[in-house]
This record gives sequence, structure tokens and C-alpha cells, in this order.
Amino acid sequence: MANKKKDEVESSESKRVPTGIPGFDEICEGGLLRNRTYLLSGTSGAGKTIFGLQYLYNGITKYGENAIYIATEERPEQVRETVKEFGWDFEALEDEGKLAILDACSTKIGVPSHEKYVDVRPFDMRSMMDQVIAMQEDIDAKRAFVDGTTSIGFYLQDPAKIRVELLKLSTTLEILGLTSLMTCEVVDPGATSRFGVETFVTEGTIMMYNNRADAVRVRSIEIYKMRGSNHSQSIHPYDITPDGIVVHPHEEVYTA
Ligand SMILES: Nc1ncnc2c1ncn2[C@@H]1O[C@H](COP(=O)(O)OP(=O)(O)OP(=O)(O)O)[C@@H](O)[C@H]1O
Ligand SMILES: [Mg+2]
Repeated sequence: MANKKKDEVESSESKRVPTGIPGFDEICEGGLLRNRTYLLSGTSGAGKTIFGLQYLYNGITKYGENAIYIATEERPEQVRETVKEFGWDFEALEDEGKLAILDACSTKIGVPSHEKYVDVRPFDMRSMMDQVIAMQEDIDAKRAFVDGTTSIGFYLQDPAKIRVELLKLSTTLEILGLTSLMTCEVVDPGATSRFGVETFVTEGTIMMYNNRADAVRVRSIEIYKMRGSNHSQSIHPYDITPDGIVVHPHEEVYTA
């Protein structure tokens, strides 16, 4: 009996994947549930890309978990430049075989790519999944970040089709042993997703806001849904610092 309890404690500990983002794990019982996919929703500029990249960077550097990044909206070379501002050297991690980046952007906009991993059929979910499977064989990752889902949605148009394709993607990531974040860009600040179906295919939804309060904009974050977690019900302010995102778990904002 005593042994069983010990096993239970161990397995419940390993069930959580800490993001390592200061303050965030505190509002969700220590992190994300392992092998699950989460939606990161917010308006443009809300901080989704930085959050996702910080999750991957921390995974590699703090927790020894390799990572896959699927870039559908920005070219990988832009991303490598952006993260340098926070002191994150993605190129070194790629050289060490700890990080793999899929260029799912260049072909879509019709420019050549010299990346190691390129999705040549960027609107075809099957093609993206095949690439992820190949990358996973190469680096045995534990974390993935799909940035983002909106262009696939526009291409498919029909919400029923979008729902099925995103479900295929999230399930494939889970079967591959990846704990993942997928971004979703919303236009209406009150909405949780762009096409109204994305939240249904994921284990949880994290909302990021950058709303106006009088003469300034206030950044805040909310765990809107997280299955199996007794998460915070509040909206917490966060900052983008020279080291990346810092969430304030003991403070609340009232106007998200
Ligand atoms: N070094 C920095 N220090 C402070 N704030 C920064 C820094 N770099 C970026 N930002 C802020 O972060 C914002 C961009 O964040 P990010 O790219 O993560 O947004 P996003 O939600 O992914 O947007 P989109 O939907 O357009 O891709 C910028 O508009 C800027 O306000
Ligand atoms: Mg972005």
C-alpha cells in the first residue's frame, strides 16, 4: 500500500510539464499535463509567440527536454533574430540537435527556403504531420509549439473541416509523446478562438490579452480552460522583460 502511494506520487509529479515561465506554473498546479495539446489564444501582439518560444527554450535549457517548433507565420530566420533579444541562442540549440524548426512559412508566401526542415505543402495537414514525425525521429523531442493555426483555418474555411484537421494534428502530437502549444489569433478580444472550434480539440486554452486601460495597454494572461487542473480563475498581469515573459501570480487585473 505504501509503495502504491509512492508510485502514485511519482507518476502525478511526472504528469506535469513545467513551462518554466516565471509565475505561470504557479497558477496551473505546476504546469501543463504531459502529452496534451493546449491552445494559446490572443489578439495580434498579445505575446503568444514569445510565450511559446520561451516554453521551448526553458524545456531544453532547464528541463533537458528537446523541442520542435513549427513556424507557419514567420520565417525561422526572423524568429532566430527575435529570440536573440532575450538572450536565447536558438542556432546553438539546433546545432546541438536539441531544437528542430519546421519552415512552414516560406513556401506559403512563395520565397525560397534553405532550412533543414521545410514544409513544401503548407496547407496540407498530412504533409505537416509527416514532417513532424521525421523531426521527432531525429531529435526525440518532448515539447512542440505550432505557431499558428489561423492560416490553415482560412484555407479550409469550413469549421467542421478545421475541427477535424486540428484534432488530427493535436492527436498526432500527443501520440508522438509531445506536450504542445498551438497558437490561435483572435480578432474579437472577447473570443477564445478564430473559427469557434479550436478550443474543443485541445486539453486547455490559455488566453493572452493586451488591452487598453485609459492611456496605457495592460498585458494579462488567463487560464480559460485546463482539463484535470485546479487552475487559477483570475486574470493575471504579465510583463515582457529582457529575459522574456514574467507572470504575476498574486496580482489580478479586472479589465481583460
Ligand atoms: N524585447 C522586448 N521587450 C518588451 N516587449 C517586447 C519585446 N519584444 C517584443 N515585445 C512586445 O511583444 C509584442 C510581440 O509579441 P508576440 O510576437 O509574441 O505577439 P503575438 O501574440 O505572437 O502576435 P501575432 O499574432 O501578431 O503573431 C510586440 O508587439 C511588443 O509589444
Ligand atoms: Mg505570433
